[in-house]
Amino acid sequence: MELPVPPDIVRAAYAELVVTDLAEARRFYVDLLGFAVSAESDTALYLRGYDELIHHNLILRAGPEAAAARLAYRVRTAADLDRAEAFFAALGSRTARVPAGVTPGVGEAVQAEDPLGFTVEFFFEAAYAERLQQRYDLRRGAEPARLDHFNIVVSDVRAAYSYYSSLGFGLSETIEDDQTLYAAWMFRKQTVHDMAFTGGEGPRLHHLGFFTHESHQVLRICDILGSLHAEAQIERGPGRHGVSNAFYVYLRDPDGHRVELYTSDYYTGDPGHPVLRWSVRDPRRRDFWGHPVVPSWYSEASTVLDLDGRPRPLLAREQTAEQMAERAAEVGADGFTRSPL
Ligand SMILES: [Fe+2]
Repeated sequence: MELPVPPDIVRAAYAELVVTDLAEARRFYVDLLGFAVSAESDTALYLRGYDELIHHNLILRAGPEAAAARLAYRVRTAADLDRAEAFFAALGSRTARVPAGVTPGVGEAVQAEDPLGFTVEFFFEAAYAERLQQRYDLRRGAEPARLDHFNIVVSDVRAAYSYYSSLGFGLSETIEDDQTLYAAWMFRKQTVHDMAFTGGEGPRLHHLGFFTHESHQVLRICDILGSLHAEAQIERGPGRHGVSNAFYVYLRDPDGHRVELYTSDYYTGDPGHPVLRWSVRDPRRRDFWGHPVVPSWYSEASTVLDLDGRPRPLLAREQTAEQMAERAAEVGADGFTRSPL
């Protein structure tokens, strides 16, 4: 199918999470992790990192069930909103125009239920907040600088790769073997990724990745959580990723949403930038030091919501039970380890 020209996406800009206790979420994201508060109401918090110019990188909205409501991308021009609407209409996706001001700090937006089952948003106009880069006096916790990427769980990684390719994303790294694409990292801004895919029962949000400038900031939040006897919120790491070379830790917020603190990946902006392909049999791919991945990291993820705020049902993976069993025996985890029923 010949698709219309896609919107010119600048980067992953913000996400909206539904949390069941806004005060607890505030304590985790603001008091412990160190996000700056751009705006707040009785029902929502708008947070940004210390380097961030746009109004927010994360909306925490109070609701009855934890979920991920939307993933928002900034686009290059106002005309890209029309391109987004036409692009998703051609894909047969339901879309909606959101007037300026409905989301504080964000202009008119186009939302779509994308072919993978996620609610995605595209906006151009954004209120610029004070950049707090040199307000060292205000920094706390992990000193998050900005949103870096989304990571989503999808039942068909190859289909997700094809769709995001059509949306103009470049491919930086993969985990694969001769038959299967297990995971892929794709970018618009000139880093390793704005979006990555983890194979499993989707659509679900796997994690939000926030950038810190230095590895000691990743370590410091672990020490803080240890001091508070909140060590159970450290799910995996700290460590060095093989894929992306990033220094990382994965945390779980009070609702179980997964947050990665991430630093020191690399520049991907040159034309013809080569793809780094990791064998699924290389134990360094997920952790460069060979540390095993905890099972919850593969199996647990956040429910996502449709345009009306209803939870999206999960799609079964396309692999047959026999293939899954073979892979579980031969390959080990990459989102394909759970035993077939
Ligand atoms: Fe990540």
